[in-house]
Order: sequence, then C-alpha cells, then structure tokens
Amino acid sequence: MIAHTISLSLGESSYPIYVGQQIFSDLTLLLRHIHGKQVFVVTQEKLVPYIALLQAALASYQCDFFYLPDGEQFKTLAQWQKILETLIQNNHERSTTLIAFGGGVVGDITGFAAACYQRGVNYLQIPTTLIAQVDAAIGGKTAVNHPSGKNRIGAFHQPQCVIVDIDLLKTLPEREYVAGLAEVIKYGLIYDTHFFNWLEENRAALLARNTKALLHAVHTSAHIKSQIVSQDERDQDLRNVLNFGHTFGHALEVLGNYQRWLHGEAVAMGMMLATRLSGDLGLLSRQDVTRIVNCLHAYGFASPSVLPPATDILKAMQHDKKVRDGKINFILLTAIGRAEKIATVTKVQLQAVLESDS
Ligand code: GLY
Repeated sequence: MIAHTISLSLGESSYPIYVGQQIFSDLTLLLRHIHGKQVFVVTQEKLVPYIALLQAALASYQCDFFYLPDGEQFKTLAQWQKILETLIQNNHERSTTLIAFGGGVVGDITGFAAACYQRGVNYLQIPTTLIAQVDAAIGGKTAVNHPSGKNRIGAFHQPQCVIVDIDLLKTLPEREYVAGLAEVIKYGLIYDTHFFNWLEENRAALLARNTKALLHAVHTSAHIKSQIVSQDERDQDLRNVLNFGHTFGHALEVLGNYQRWLHGEAVAMGMMLATRLSGDLGLLSRQDVTRIVNCLHAYGFASPSVLPPATDILKAMQHDKKVRDGKINFILLTAIGRAEKIATVTKVQLQAVLESDS
C-alpha cells in the first residue's frame, strides 16, 4: 500500500517518490516506470529472500541480475566496469531499465552505470536500507569512490522513480538501522524544528521500528530532501546544507578505512562536532548545543571522544570535495532547524573543537 507520494520537481526530470509498505515488488507500480522489455537489477546476495519476489514480479521481462559484493570498498570503477560489461554481454539496449535494489552503495554505482551506459539509460531506485531510503536514493547523485576520496567520480542522473518500502527495513541489522537514523535527525537539525522535536519525543517508537513512527520519519525526511533538491539539483547552493556533519564525517570514514564506522555513525559524530563548532563560533546557543548532543547520545551515537588525532582528521579533510581554494566550507547551525554555509572557519577553531573532550 502506498502511504505517500512525494513529487520531486525538476522540470522534465521530475519523478515520484513512493513511500509505503509491500510496494517494492508491486508490478502495477513497476509497470508505470519500466518502458522497454529489458531490466537489469543490481543487488546483493544478502537480499535473496526479497529478490525472489522482485524476480517473480518481473517474470515477463528479460531480467538479468548483477550481485555486488557487500561494502563501501566495492563502490569502485572496477565494479562499475563489471556492471557495464554484463549489460553488454546480455545485449541490453538503450530502452533497458536498471534497477538499484540495495543500500546506498548499490544505488550510487547503479545510477552511475545508468548515466554512462549507451550515454544514459533509465533506472529505478528501490532502496533497502534506512540511509538509502531517506538520503542516497533521492536526488540523482551517482558516483564511485577513488582511493583519494569518496564519490570522486560520478554524475548527476535522476531516476524514473524511488520506491521506498519500509517493510524492507524489518530485517535490517540493528547497527545499520540506527546509523540511518543519523541522516533522519540531520533533516530536523538543518530544516525543520518541529521534526526535531518529534524525533526527540518519539525516540522509543522509532528505535523499536514502530510502523507509524517509521512511516512518518521516512516520509518527512524524503519530503525535506526532495524540497531541497528541487531548489538546487546541482548542489551549488541550498543543497550544500545536506552536508551538515559530513565534512568531519567523511574524514572519519577515510581514516577508518570505511570499515571502523558506518557512514551514519561517522556523520553522527560529525554532527556533534559541527554542532559544537557552531556553539564555539557563537552561531548557536549553548542550550541548543547540549540539546542536540544529548539527542544524538540518546539515539545511541558515540561521543566524538573516540576520535583519531586532530592532525589526522584535519589532513583528511583537505581532500574533501567541499574544500575550495584551500578553504573548507562548513555547514553550521544557526538554530535547530536552520543551517548555513560558513567559509570563515579557521584551522585553530577546528583544532579546538577536535581536541575538546566535552
Ligand atoms: N547526500 C547529499 C546530497 O544528496 O546532496
């Protein structure tokens, strides 16, 4: 059942985001967005129980599957090339439709393959993790990683639709589920005070994966993301606010070899640091700093006291895409529900926040 349909408005590239239950293998829904006779599903072995349902729904198509190994370390040009080779071997034509059925890694690499195969073919996003449902699958950012940094090679390529089925989250491992909540909390912090209040009040229900709470959280997050993307598809201005916590977070991911922390865990620590930096710079009240850090702790996110040395983090941040002319642009909070890009943060201020234990 579709509970909500959000429209991501981007002129001719506009598309719907369906949020509901038991919708990922709904043929009527899939039929609206698959136009040729071929489909190519990029997915992962661990999703086999769900894949059987998708395969049954797509029985009348030439349907080929590509299984991507699990982990951020496989979001590479080598795997992307294998996807393209498999498309060619199976004679997929320009009218084919790629389906990204998995988490953020699957979505990003499939989208990038769709952007490049035959100069661009259609694809659908069916995200199976919380983080992909509320963030990665929405907005058309596609990419692979390079040893020098995350998402360094990619393209903007919008999907035909995003099918967000919260029932897929029932079997998500606890650590991955909680990590996804970091991005949900981010939307409250950068864009919507009421949503942040709701997240504080409904923590127990959300952590218990209560259906009503989950539908509200996922729908609100997807709605906020689509509002932001529709105003700034190419990430030139407003979309930058989605990077709140990510400059620190990406540096931590690199230092942890993408294995020590999940993306959401690194972002949660990054949000705590960026919140404290906002307080140190006098942009955010001390009360709000405490309230935000307490909320993140209550959701189970570790305190940044387990960080690598400040000098290593600062060095890793130099490689971030948000570094322009040697300066790091930080997204900081001016209130709960309001974020701004600040270009004047100094190395000394950064060092101070990275070295404080509070
Ligand atoms: N995940 C950040 C963005 O889509 O812009």
